[in-house]
Amino acid sequence: MAFIPKSILVTGGAGFIGSNFIHSFIANNPECYVTNLDALTYAGNLANLKTVEHHPAYGFVKGDICDAALVARILHEKKIDTVVHFAAESHVDRSISGPEIFVRTNVLGTQTLLEESRKHWQSGLVPDFRFFQISTDEVYGTLGETGYFTEQTPLAPNSPYSASKAGADMLVRAYHETYGMPTLNTRCSNNYGPYHFPEKLIPLLINNIVHSKALPVYGDGRNVRDWLHVRDHAIAVETVLKSATPGSVYNIGGNNEWFNIDIVNLVCDLLDGRLGRPAGQNRGLITFVKDRLGHDRRYAIDASRLKDDLGWEPAYTFEKGIAETIDWYLANQEWVTEVTSGAYREYYAQQYGGRS
Ligand code: NAD
Ligand code: DAU
Repeated sequence: MAFIPKSILVTGGAGFIGSNFIHSFIANNPECYVTNLDALTYAGNLANLKTVEHHPAYGFVKGDICDAALVARILHEKKIDTVVHFAAESHVDRSISGPEIFVRTNVLGTQTLLEESRKHWQSGLVPDFRFFQISTDEVYGTLGETGYFTEQTPLAPNSPYSASKAGADMLVRAYHETYGMPTLNTRCSNNYGPYHFPEKLIPLLINNIVHSKALPVYGDGRNVRDWLHVRDHAIAVETVLKSATPGSVYNIGGNNEWFNIDIVNLVCDLLDGRLGRPAGQNRGLITFVKDRLGHDRRYAIDASRLKDDLGWEPAYTFEKGIAETIDWYLANQEWVTEVTSGAYREYYAQQYGGRS
């Protein structure tokens, strides 16, 4: 029988995937109240949620997932029956230069949410409950030229970021095994689409091309990533939430593998046309740079279990998704300027006491 959420707590809803999920979920579930708990770090932008900020079924709380008292209060006061946990430090390069915050937010933050959720669920205030951990294919480590990650692939994370996500996934598993808590856990490949912070490859490329800046390609550019449109991810999460058996783990992927250098060339060429530049001009910005430490060579997801069990498949073709994404960035240059300059933080700091 389908699980129908009535009051959902989204953590990290001001980030890239969380904000896209909120837009999609509110449109599809008008009867469910959405509370967004976000600390508004450098990656959290309430500008991503302007069109829902006054929606009667939406509320924002500025706060830290490590704040147990705050989490407990929200769970109780809002009679939360679903936690969808996106909040994280998400950038691999930052985890290499400063791992500590990744352990704090991704491991300790998840533990805090789990423990407060356990007490809330066991109090019986809500008739049914789900704790949904949003995770990444990076917990499986790296692949050679062939093969795919399945849900049975052993976890073998290689970066401080992926190690912290794997630690969180293991805690989620433990809460299900130990307490019987109704958890869900998905592991998704690389997302792209609107509201993607321009430190990540695709929005960084678009932004740098617009400003005729160098395009840094790590190593030989032949690392492989599987790309999925963020709105397809949002629908996959909603599908798993409503239909999966508690305790389940599902992979989510786009069946859409690309060498980094091919993505770089594609984005260059699409932007030549849109910016009225001669064919091939943008490729001249490509600059091969020193490789990322411990750079995983290839990710590829087998998402057949999600298709077979729950019928989910991506709706976007990459051709349509990347064209729309580029057009979104060109039409939203003001958003890019705001989030890269940090200007939005000053504006929202006045309303919520935001930190930079
Ligand atoms: P993001 O960096 O864009 O957003 C993270 C959000 O979490 C921000 O709004 C930030 O303010 C918030 N946050 C950070 N620390 C917090 C704290 N202590 N308390 C409350 N909020 C806090 O990340 P994203 O790319 O949207 O990723 C969301 C989730 O999806 C992460 O868990 C990530 O591991 C996972 N994921 C991401 C991808 C991807 O391609 N981006 C793919 C698979 C899985
Ligand atoms: O696979 C899912 C993961 O995808 C998520 O869990 C992470 O949160 C998300 O950030 C993303 O991680 P990646 O490291 O794959 O994404 P990023 O955009 O940082 O890099 C994509 C690839 O491009 C990777 O092989 C590194 C390379 N790269 C990246 C940047 C920023 C470059 O060559 N140059 C760059 O400037």
